Amino acid sequence: MSSMSTPLERELYIGKRKVRNRFAIQPMECNDANLRGTFTVQTLKRYKNLFEGGAGFIVMESVTLQRESTARKTQLLLDVDDPANRADWQKFMEYKCRHYPDTVFVVQFNHSGELSDENFSKRITVKPLPGFGGELVDEEYIHKTIDLYVRAAKFLYDIGADGVDLKFCHGYLGSQILRPYNDRNWRYGGSLENRARFAYELCEKVRRAVPDEKFLIGAKFSIWDEMAGGQGHAGPDSPIIDPEESLTICRGLEERGASFFIETLGNCGVYWDLMCPGKNSCENVYRHMTAAKMLRETLKPETVVIGSGLSLLRDGRDNGFKGVDPSRNSLLYWGNIGIEQGYFDMIGLGRQSLADPYLPQKYAEGRLGDVDWCHCCNLCAGLENLQQCVGCVIHNPYYKEIYRKVSK
Ligand SMILES: Cc1cc2nc3c(=O)[nH]c(=O)nc-3n(C[C@H](O)[C@H](O)[C@H](O)COP(=O)(O)O)c2cc1C
Repeated sequence: MSSMSTPLERELYIGKRKVRNRFAIQPMECNDANLRGTFTVQTLKRYKNLFEGGAGFIVMESVTLQRESTARKTQLLLDVDDPANRADWQKFMEYKCRHYPDTVFVVQFNHSGELSDENFSKRITVKPLPGFGGELVDEEYIHKTIDLYVRAAKFLYDIGADGVDLKFCHGYLGSQILRPYNDRNWRYGGSLENRARFAYELCEKVRRAVPDEKFLIGAKFSIWDEMAGGQGHAGPDSPIIDPEESLTICRGLEERGASFFIETLGNCGVYWDLMCPGKNSCENVYRHMTAAKMLRETLKPETVVIGSGLSLLRDGRDNGFKGVDPSRNSLLYWGNIGIEQGYFDMIGLGRQSLADPYLPQKYAEGRLGDVDWCHCCNLCAGLENLQQCVGCVIHNPYYKEIYRKVSK
């Protein structure tokens, strides 16, 4: 890379892995698995586009490790106890490693908890939330869940994946345990020490099962959400935002071997606008940058922080922002400045990666005129909520047609 390269083009290390640029692909659940919970033609096409699109770091979408409690009917499943499922994953990773060995690829693990859809699965909870409920789980359930995560991580290591992203955000189980609202008196609730135990045990046990530090452990973490008693709030019923506890837990994860963090905000079980800023809530983009900077300043310099919620910035135009010069308010502008000024080390592309998986390559080749910019219409999220295959309804005719049919 020449000395003239922009911050976004500069390589960096996540733990012991070299990443060729500062573009990260966010985990984006696209609900297009087959009956075994594995890869369809559509899933493979999506990942091929992402691999060819040039991002140095790809976080595979939220993968469930059990079928019983899930939010999506055709979510990707990694079932370590099912030989056919394992074989599909192995084939996928062989393909990835053969054709795209230089792309650092990790998989996000998730359990939906109280966000599991009762129409086809079992909703479980650590403390029933009004309007959600679910079957109360005990310590044994959590131990089994940790065991599944650890065995799945070891399996992924054996088949060539570069790491795991543990999901502690957006109101799913990892977030439900951490939030102050979980003041139930049990091993995984009440004090901060107890609420952080699930996260810490996961991190420690994955590292113990896979001591090779080239296998990355990271976390996507809601620094705060928008629910009284939620992550980053001052107490079990408190509406007051206080990110200190979130930052403390992230430091605790870092001490236990996490080498990357994906900053995020919000709980999509209650609202979408904080997690996914839209034109009517564009100021949330700045909240994401602020949260990422807090994380950046709290963690060791070598730990990598990835910013989220930036797709709305687009090319600076038609994004709803007022009082700013569009040429100084685009995704790439803030990507470069944000890295230089220490807000984050990489930019995470979420909805923008559905609109145009080739943005990193087009940026490197100076073809910005060819980029399909995300409109943040959230029709992709609409497809997800309707249990359909997810993709960009604006730029991709395949998903446009699905949306046309289901929205009739
Ligand atoms: C359709 C859709 C699916 C998503 N799936 C996931 C997921 O699997 N895991 C996750 O952590 N976040 C998920 N998110 C959140 C995104 O990764 C990202 O944090 C959010 O879209 C904000 O970034 P953006 O402005 O670049 O879109 C999803 C968002 C959408 C719209």
